[in-house]
Amino acid sequence: MTNAEPHRGDGDLPRAVPWRSYALITGMAVVLVALLIAAAVPFVAPEAGLEPGPLVLITGRDDSVGRQRIELVREWNVIHKANPVQIVELPPVADAQRSEMVARAQAGGGVDVFNLDVTWTAEFAEAGYLAPIDERTVEAGDFLGRPLDSCRDADGRLWALPFNTDLGLLYYRRDLLQRLLNRPNADPPRTWNDLQSDVEEIRRTGYRGPAYVGQFDDYEGLTVNALELVRGAGGEIVDAGGAVTAGSHLDQIETAFDRLGVLSFGLEGQTEDESTEAFRSGGAVFMRNWPRAFLALSATREAGQPDREIGVTTLPDGSGILGGQNLAVSSRSERPRAARALVDFLTSDRSAQILFDRGGLPAARSVVFEDPEVQRRYPFAAELRAGLDDALPRPSLVHYARFSEAVRQPAREYANGSRRSLPPDFVARVQDGAAGRIASD
Ligand code: GLC
Repeated sequence: MTNAEPHRGDGDLPRAVPWRSYALITGMAVVLVALLIAAAVPFVAPEAGLEPGPLVLITGRDDSVGRQRIELVREWNVIHKANPVQIVELPPVADAQRSEMVARAQAGGGVDVFNLDVTWTAEFAEAGYLAPIDERTVEAGDFLGRPLDSCRDADGRLWALPFNTDLGLLYYRRDLLQRLLNRPNADPPRTWNDLQSDVEEIRRTGYRGPAYVGQFDDYEGLTVNALELVRGAGGEIVDAGGAVTAGSHLDQIETAFDRLGVLSFGLEGQTEDESTEAFRSGGAVFMRNWPRAFLALSATREAGQPDREIGVTTLPDGSGILGGQNLAVSSRSERPRAARALVDFLTSDRSAQILFDRGGLPAARSVVFEDPEVQRRYPFAAELRAGLDDALPRPSLVHYARFSEAVRQPAREYANGSRRSLPPDFVARVQDGAAGRIASD
């Protein structure tokens, strides 16, 4: 120490400031800091009881219009600074998403919340990838019955909550129905028989656009199209309990697959996006697609209704099959309470409203269908709501993917014109698939 350096001993304290004043200043500083911390707390501290730290949500491509799922996660991130969500977004096709999610789940941790297609619940639960959801923590009555049921396994245990639901719809062009089928009121067909006759008649007129587009590519979309046709023909492949009943319905299944061949004529190999495009700009007269195609067909959301020439109704013969996605907490999550809070946030009434109204993904919550804005945007909202109550779930099978492949393989051959009768071992193959006895990937 040099002489020039000020001495900092207590004796140097300016006498003009008595110790009481120091206590006062220190006290005020403490209060000020406390106030600053208090002001900052809502933005940095975890919500009571939630483990702080980042969360990983793994999901298929956000197919909603305007990427509303991602928007909701952004909202969460603004409010829950202590639990920022990182989204891992997988490819658009359901089957590829499943393989990737299974691979990540098998690899261990790193995922907090899974966005599962309705058909994967049983498989993921059985494999131990999901944390069960305590029914007492869910206001079950707020969810539509069938979507909530798709979150359960065959024993009725709840593993997820519905993010959005889905139901196949029939889209048609009024102007083309009037012109090509001479139908002044543009009434759509109500049975698959009538739809098939319409399609055949349109082709006879020499019309150059496709009469019908759907999902005929080799993936889950084709399975759904095939199952709808089977249901529409009064057939069944698996009963509600998961038992394969195809053997007692071979005639109806054959009728359904024949029809698939007629409807898909020359067009096999289409996904949801491709059929939407064929309907938007390719002159297709009829289209089977999910509700989100309706918003996708509008030029912009603000422009409101899509082309007034487009009609939408439920599928013929009340043959709807339930679709949709469910959110589940990973059994390996290190932040299970925060992950569940995220699931609750994303499946709330408000989120369901946003996903449907802005994004086109049907709400799995009944209150949303009562919203006048939703009813205005979707002229078919009431029909869709009723159709959802009657939608047939795909079977809750641990080996659903293999079952789906066994159904799809002959369906695909009918669709591309290379098959005209069911293979003799069809039932055995479906049974093997449902029991997980054939390779799927
Ligand atoms: C939609 C449905 C889903 C279905 C898939 C098939 O995303 O919501 O349930 O499996 O289409 O492509």
